[in-house]
Amino acid sequence: MKGSNSYKFRSTKLIITIFSLVGTTVLLWTWERAPLVNTLLSAQDQFLFSSSDIVTSASDSFDAVLITEKTNGPIGQDLNAAPINFATSRSPVKNEDLMGFRESSLENSGCNYAKGKWVADSRRPLYSGFSCKQWLSEMWSCRLSQRTDFSYERYRWKPNHCEMPEFERLTFLKRMQDKTIAYVGDSLGRQQFQSMMCMATGGLEMPEVEDVGWKYGLIKPQGAIRPDGWAYRFPSTNTTILYYWSANLCNLEPLNATNPATDYAMHLDRPAAFLSRYLHRIDVLVLNTGHHWNRGKLNANRWVMHVNGMPVIDRKLANIGNAKNHTVYSVVKWLDSQLYRHTRLKAFFRTISPRHFLNGDWNTGGSCDNTIPLVGGSEVTQDESSDPVVEGAVRGTKIKILDITAISQIRDEGHISRYSHKAKEGMQDCLHWCLPGIPDTWNELLIAQL
Ligand SMILES: *[C@@H]1O[C@H](CO)[C@@H](O)[C@H](O)[C@H]1NC(C)=O
Ligand SMILES: *[C@@H]1O[C@H](CO)[C@@H](O)[C@H](O)[C@H]1NC(C)=O
Ligand SMILES: *[C@@H]1O[C@H](CO)[C@@H](O)[C@H](O)[C@H]1NC(C)=O
Repeated sequence: MKGSNSYKFRSTKLIITIFSLVGTTVLLWTWERAPLVNTLLSAQDQFLFSSSDIVTSASDSFDAVLITEKTNGPIGQDLNAAPINFATSRSPVKNEDLMGFRESSLENSGCNYAKGKWVADSRRPLYSGFSCKQWLSEMWSCRLSQRTDFSYERYRWKPNHCEMPEFERLTFLKRMQDKTIAYVGDSLGRQQFQSMMCMATGGLEMPEVEDVGWKYGLIKPQGAIRPDGWAYRFPSTNTTILYYWSANLCNLEPLNATNPATDYAMHLDRPAAFLSRYLHRIDVLVLNTGHHWNRGKLNANRWVMHVNGMPVIDRKLANIGNAKNHTVYSVVKWLDSQLYRHTRLKAFFRTISPRHFLNGDWNTGGSCDNTIPLVGGSEVTQDESSDPVVEGAVRGTKIKILDITAISQIRDEGHISRYSHKAKEGMQDCLHWCLPGIPDTWNELLIAQL
């Protein structure tokens, strides 16, 4: 048949093209990556596009971090981590919102969850790292790796002046009856999502939990390695937990939809389309961004900064740090302006997750070898956040800060480190965290503030 011949021809051509384009880098395909937002392309184009994008990709994965960051200039480097400064003496200008969000924990209003200390707790972890296979990516499951030290699993965060009720999954699900919790952000957001799935299931097999990705447009395009996110519904309480991959939280728009190698307009002043489309169906929203703000990733993904619908020519704004700042402020401003229409929505901006590459970076032998918890101290005493961008952006709005930067900064032993399943010899992952682990605490802090 004509159709199938032509299909065969195109497939052969496609395969040849892929191999010539990709070459040995196809080996890297197994690395976790998120597909690009390019639903306008045909399946074949998409596959081709995605494949040739392996090396460079919009990917969320550590490996892609490794690969794309190779092209980083110094600009990208210093922005990968928020400046951490425990010694600063800025006065605490917490403008706690008085309008809502803490009705359920009035006694806690005004307290700072990020101030406190890590304490040993034999009731941790909240689920076993040998379980939760249904939700937890193997690459983040350190119990399934060669790692032998697990003391990082056995700590709980204790804020100085706020109540932190013990997490109890059935109580939590009941509280979340008929609600949808959405994580939107980069791979660290995905870690927090997987952590939440494991916490909510206790790591147990739960065949009754329903895949409802289709209800949020989260379906794997033909040829793509995976969808842009996942959504799962607990039928017992009608609770949905979802994740959408949006590394920079910007709206991305192909500049030429018919060209598989198109550049994308990355609108610094327009939130990801997913957010505007589904906001009315979200009850708890947790945003994050951070580690994709570097020149290497932007170029690799062919993301071209736009503001007011026009390419950014202002050199000051084109600076990566300023562009990120502009985006974070824009997203927060937009979200805040939407809240009056979505009165049940509780929106959080999670601060940046710290990296811990020592004696080098990801590609120059940087490591995070320490296995002894809290060698640098167990307390956070500063009043201000170690992520001034998010702190500044949410100030005076009804968006809440989920401040995890300083508390995670003193948990350098909790990263995947040398036990990455996929990193090349000598490379360490000092960006992502073992699960169970530190992101579970982020969720406990989130739940306490709901
Ligand atoms: C589940 O919750 C949603 C709101 O999030 C509601 O629209 C829907 O009717 C609920 N479904 C059931 C079966 O209760
Ligand atoms: C868009 O891409 C297609 C395919 O590469 C090309 O033929 C066309 O000229 C492009 N359009 C514009 C406006 O650049
Ligand atoms: C970030 O943007 C906001 C709003 O435009 C501005 O007030 C603030 O000074 C900027 N911060 C930095 C560090 O550029």
